[in-house]
Amino acid sequence: MALEFIDKAPTLEEYKEMRRLVNFMPLSDRICRNVINNAFHITTVRDNGKCVGMIRVLSEGGYANFITDVIVIPEYQHQGIGKQMMHRTMDYLYSTLEPGEKIVVYLMSAKEREPFYRQFGYRNEGVSGSEHGGAVWYEMRLTF
Ligand SMILES: CC(C)(COP(=O)(O)OP(=O)(O)OC[C@H]1O[C@@H](n2cnc3c(N)ncnc32)[C@H](O)[C@@H]1OP(=O)(O)O)[C@@H](O)C(=O)NCCC(=O)NCCS
Repeated sequence: MALEFIDKAPTLEEYKEMRRLVNFMPLSDRICRNVINNAFHITTVRDNGKCVGMIRVLSEGGYANFITDVIVIPEYQHQGIGKQMMHRTMDYLYSTLEPGEKIVVYLMSAKEREPFYRQFGYRNEGVSGSEHGGAVWYEMRLTF
């Protein structure tokens, strides 16, 4: 395995395939294109070129930032890739700050993923009103 973390969007087909492999709801090509073209910060993880994971941040470079599409395809899960993606993304956000500045990072966690995000310091703020994908979501928040 020769993993590379690359701060560049996946292709449309790669994004759709990763979503499919983790059973995220299908999105139209138009929405997928907006996602991959407009993220504030987006990282893919590649194994010999094959796209095996991704993470992206929505932001305008201001106070509120939102991490979403945290995906590691099933055959690569439980090897620490998700943890590295999270640390790398938060390190990037931290690196954008000037002395004395603070930001808040939000994400929505599926119920069973809540311990995964708590390890990075995210606080569970309760069940979200959103029921997208027919799931229960927790709103999670980290300030630094
Ligand atoms: C959530 C997700 C991104 C985590 O990615 P991951 O690469 O599997 O995450 P990690 O390997 O860093 O950690 C996951 C687990 O593997 C364990 N692990 C990490 N390295 C390991 C290793 N070398 N050997 C064995 N286990 C390991 C971790 O302890 C962790 O255990 P936990 O599940 O009890 O917390 C991934 O499961 C995923 O894409 N799921 C489907 C999509 C999804 O639900 N995304 C999040 C939406 S909220």
